[in-house]
Amino acid sequence: ARELPDILSAEFAADPYAAYRVLRERAPLLHHEATRSWIVSRYEDVERAFRNPVFTTDNYDWQIAPVHGRTILQMSGREHAVRRALVAPAFRGSVLEEKFRPVIEHNARELIDGFRHDGHADLVGQFATHFPINVIVDMLGLDKADHAKFHRWYTATIAFLGNLGGDEQVAEAGRRTREEFAAHMIPIIQRRREDPGDDLLSSLCEAEIDGTRMSDEDVKAFCSLLLAAGGETTDKAIAAIFRNLLEHPDQLAAVRADRSLIPRAFAETLRYTPPVHMIMRQPAEDVELGGGVVPAGATVTCLIGAANRDPARYSHPDEFDIFRDDLNTSNAFSAAANHLAFALGRHFCVGALLAKTEVEVGVDMLLDAMPDVRLADGYRAAEHGVFTRGPAELPVVFTPVA
Ligand code: HEM
Repeated sequence: ARELPDILSAEFAADPYAAYRVLRERAPLLHHEATRSWIVSRYEDVERAFRNPVFTTDNYDWQIAPVHGRTILQMSGREHAVRRALVAPAFRGSVLEEKFRPVIEHNARELIDGFRHDGHADLVGQFATHFPINVIVDMLGLDKADHAKFHRWYTATIAFLGNLGGDEQVAEAGRRTREEFAAHMIPIIQRRREDPGDDLLSSLCEAEIDGTRMSDEDVKAFCSLLLAAGGETTDKAIAAIFRNLLEHPDQLAAVRADRSLIPRAFAETLRYTPPVHMIMRQPAEDVELGGGVVPAGATVTCLIGAANRDPARYSHPDEFDIFRDDLNTSNAFSAAANHLAFALGRHFCVGALLAKTEVEVGVDMLLDAMPDVRLADGYRAAEHGVFTRGPAELPVVFTPVA
């Protein structure tokens, strides 16, 4: 098996898609020594691991608890159902439209105003990196002056999650983040309980089901998860949809002419270049998967990036095609989604509709501000990351609108 791809190698980081093809074809269940995990890459196997509750999320006890504490991701059964019911109302379509769309529009405008007269921009450094995190900070009613701190914390948190090689410095930075975040947030949460406002943080403090409320620690852990889960993912998604469209000028022209195609382009982007490339699970008992048996308690690495390009599931999987007919875009942002970028089953991304709204608003406003936007000369599509992945930069040029 020596010639099989290694998910920790430099070749893999440079082009995971070539490696995914080899894994799907030749090693649909592969034991990986260095991460002590079992890797699956076919659509049907990844889907099964997400949908079947035998595959628990107990792995998050070591994967994220040291940075976030105990969050909804580690929970199962009734505990998870209650927690999900406590937080989900804030992310429903009607609430997003009425309450948070203006916040999203305001933040997009503010960032675009920073470069709209320049005729050139890096849409990663000047837009995507800041937009989703600014939105969440505003939604929670936190102080935007602390943006740099929040940004540093979520970057350290995500690095911890993706620290497959076990780098001790990365691990230490992640653990320190947990303490700094708690020291910052707990006093704010306590003040918000005494003097609630019309913001997401107050709603989380006040939410109650059958007499159950979240403790200060619960609310803090959820905010920590929100910043990481909603920041880094959506920032990569926005950069990726814009890059994918710029690299396919005919599809860009179609979207520019008919903005109702943005959700379609976003769903195809999530399939073709998902922000989260891998998610772990831990089976509670021995279980058949990928043509073999995974032992109870082992770690399963589910390659979303590979499953989303499985030719057994999609035609011409390696092509970006917003008009493909095997991706039902009308429900691609619900639990009935038919790509795996938001996972499936119990832990299906609670922020999927928020991400969709942010991308709709962001792409629409960017297109208006830059009518002839194109990639800067000499741009070479480089992506960053293994666990999460997205464009490293996105330099564009355009004629400023008077
Ligand atoms: C869960 C991806 C945006 C909050 C998840 C999961 C994935 C994912 C793959 C499942 C994790 C697992 O099953 O182990 C994404 C992508 C996004 C995105 C690709 C953007 C394109 C957001 C946003 C928020 C958010 C904007 C909120 C601000 C969450 C939360 C969970 C979650 C709280 C845990 C749900 C649960 O355990 O029940 N996301 N996410 N995500 N996401 Fe997202």
